[in-house]
Amino acid sequence: MLNPTSIDATAEQERLHVPAELDASLRARQAWISPKFLYDPLGSKLFEAICELPEYYPTRTEASVFAAFGGEIARTVGTGSTLIDLGAGNCAKAAGLFPLLHPAQYVPIDISAEFLQDAVARLQQRFRHIEMHPLGMDLSGPLNLPDTVRPERRLFFYPGSSIGNFTPDEARDFLQRVHAQCGHDGGLLIGIDLAKDHAVLDAAYDDALGVTAAFNLNVLNHVNRLLGADFDIRQWRHRGFYNADARRVEMHLEAKSAQLVSWRGGSRRFEAGEWIHTENSYKYRQSDAVGLLEQSGFAATKVWTDPQGWFAVIHARALSH
Ligand code: AVJ
Repeated sequence: MLNPTSIDATAEQERLHVPAELDASLRARQAWISPKFLYDPLGSKLFEAICELPEYYPTRTEASVFAAFGGEIARTVGTGSTLIDLGAGNCAKAAGLFPLLHPAQYVPIDISAEFLQDAVARLQQRFRHIEMHPLGMDLSGPLNLPDTVRPERRLFFYPGSSIGNFTPDEARDFLQRVHAQCGHDGGLLIGIDLAKDHAVLDAAYDDALGVTAAFNLNVLNHVNRLLGADFDIRQWRHRGFYNADARRVEMHLEAKSAQLVSWRGGSRRFEAGEWIHTENSYKYRQSDAVGLLEQSGFAATKVWTDPQGWFAVIHARALSH
């Protein structure tokens, strides 16, 4: 069942908060832009392209784990669940699991509501018997699921290491919010990228074709539209690298020249070489990932990884309060 009205309603709420949030982050002493703004319709397509890059190992590695252990994963999580896909994007990962998991209801959630709507419309054609209920929602806010989401057997699906966009503290808060929505029989199937060699990480976030650069720079196009800003994309350069001390990849935009940027209600001068921080992507050790889940009310029942130990897929059961 498609439900476009729920998408529009949540998207509308979002629009009210966006300008103030962006205005504040652009004025901060260290300017930043939340990574959620990377995902306008073009940004979502560029991210799809990133997932195809030879350097961007996470998507491929995670897929290899599902391919190798799909049967075992299905036996662990069970069939007939309410599959709630957090940051669903094009829904391809969940769709790949449908033949194994046979969910009773599919609830994809994504901030890129338009993109999600298109993806679900196509998916519903392929899987007519699965009830689909897309929600356009910002996962950095409260996790309020409408009553139409079945309360039984909720399986939250959080693949792709999207958890990495949060700091570990924020990740715990987020997972606790997920836990609160799990009921007595719920669980979480999560993909988490693991710490590894710097060179691999640097290349994955600064690829030879410049697709990640385009993805990062496109956030300025999105901000220009959201805020009526006049960022000149050509005056900015992509930076993406592993910060080993902080155990995270960072993305920034570096000003190529001194410039004044104006927007509805504000302006700022950027010096040549000044950075705008656009994303963190935390990398975990397997034991820390399990610890994070345990601190959030889950019991890690099973961990699957690839032979190189680059990426972990973890199923965790929600413990009762
Ligand atoms: C969607 C947050 C998992 O951090 O690897 C890819 C986003 N940024 N290349 C990641 C991203 C640059 C991606 N996540």
